[in-house]
Amino acid sequence: MLEVKGELFKGRREVLRDSYIPSRLPHREHQIHQVAEVLAPALRGDLPSNLLIFGKIGTGKTAVVAQVRRDIERRAEVSEHIQFIYINCGNIDTPYSLLQMAGNTFAAKESDRIPTGWSLDRVQAGMRRLMDTKARTVILVLDEIDRLVVRSGDGVLYTLSQINTELANARLVIVGISNDLKFTNNLDARVRSRLNEEKILFPPYDALQLQDILRERAKEAFRDGVVDPGVIERCAAYAALEHGDARRALALLRLGAEMAERDHAKRITPDHIVKAKNRLEQDVIIDCCRTLPTHCKILLYAILQAYERRRTGVLTGDVYEGYAKLAQKLGLQPLHARSVSNHLSDLEALGLIRATIVSRGRGGRTREIIVDVPIAETLPALEEDPLLAPLGRPRNRGQLLLTNFDNPARTTPY
Ligand SMILES: Nc1ncnc2c1ncn2[C@@H]1O[C@H](COP(=O)(O)OP(=O)(O)OP(=O)(O)O)[C@@H](O)[C@H]1O
Ligand SMILES: [Mg+2]
Repeated sequence: MLEVKGELFKGRREVLRDSYIPSRLPHREHQIHQVAEVLAPALRGDLPSNLLIFGKIGTGKTAVVAQVRRDIERRAEVSEHIQFIYINCGNIDTPYSLLQMAGNTFAAKESDRIPTGWSLDRVQAGMRRLMDTKARTVILVLDEIDRLVVRSGDGVLYTLSQINTELANARLVIVGISNDLKFTNNLDARVRSRLNEEKILFPPYDALQLQDILRERAKEAFRDGVVDPGVIERCAAYAALEHGDARRALALLRLGAEMAERDHAKRITPDHIVKAKNRLEQDVIIDCCRTLPTHCKILLYAILQAYERRRTGVLTGDVYEGYAKLAQKLGLQPLHARSVSNHLSDLEALGLIRATIVSRGRGGRTREIIVDVPIAETLPALEEDPLLAPLGRPRNRGQLLLTNFDNPARTTPY
């Protein structure tokens, strides 16, 4: 069917990327309608209610709001008096930068802009002034609003939610998006009731819905006939198991296609999706290891070393010893047994290791530790920590011990 080797994509890879907003969002028609209805008064020059949108990750919250925005902005007659501002609160550090960013959207010229270095009060006043230069409805979308509250409290939301009492011409509506259903519990009661005027919940997608979403994207992204039967179903099934996350489903399809390309395959097969899933899981594990506290990293390092050497479970006594040696080698005071034991529990809770009780004849019972991470990838990730860097060594021997994630039963021995 395909003459040229490896040509799976039609040429538009970004179609499968997160940032791409498709023209249709299957199974979100109802939510699009709901959001549009809440914002509709703005089209008539009236003030809409504030709106909070809740839903787990990858349930289309950001995409739906972007689509409604696009639909509203397309109507030429409103572009004059409706202004959207989109801020992802995950990307801003302080209330200061939020207000500065919002205010500067209205700055007609460079000299109007709010500079860095003003007091917070002055930035607030500056933002109000810039916004109020014209009669308009400002729709401020605060995506991942829960992260703003965690980081900086609800002070800035208090300011924003009562700003209309201080504006003469403009009006502000807040659309907050959150994947934490409980984040409003941490808000001041007044802020909560002001933000919560309207609330929309986005349910997770089920496997069949994810299939529809993927099929539409695949049609746009791939050439005809390159997606084998079962590929879409597998991506959807994996993602449905993990809270119905469309982002995850798309990532599986995108990575699966990359795996197929790497194999110089002419078609994407369900096996490529299995590989993609394993790769994604592995990436999560390795990222998790990178964020551990230093002593926890040393402990995991000791476990991995011992496990690599013996290829069987490691007894806790040996782990303590190995850890203490490594810590000393790095010039650090080893932690006491109790703290080490707590760190072991943390590693277990994170799913990086598993500990089972084994009975050792008369010696009583002890815990045996089994590793649940790919050793050859995890050791270098731990060595990225400058404190652990001296432990680094040539890794050609370790490569042979790489857990074969495609088929754990065939982990290569040396
Ligand atoms: N119904 C849908 N149809 C097509 N694509 C969708 C649909 N829902 C979500 N997507 C796609 O899935 C990805 C994740 O969606 P989105 O970013 O909107 O999720 P979210 O609910 O905002 O997640 P988070 O809480 O993690 O921010 C995006 O690439 C989006 O385009
Ligand atoms: Mg989002």
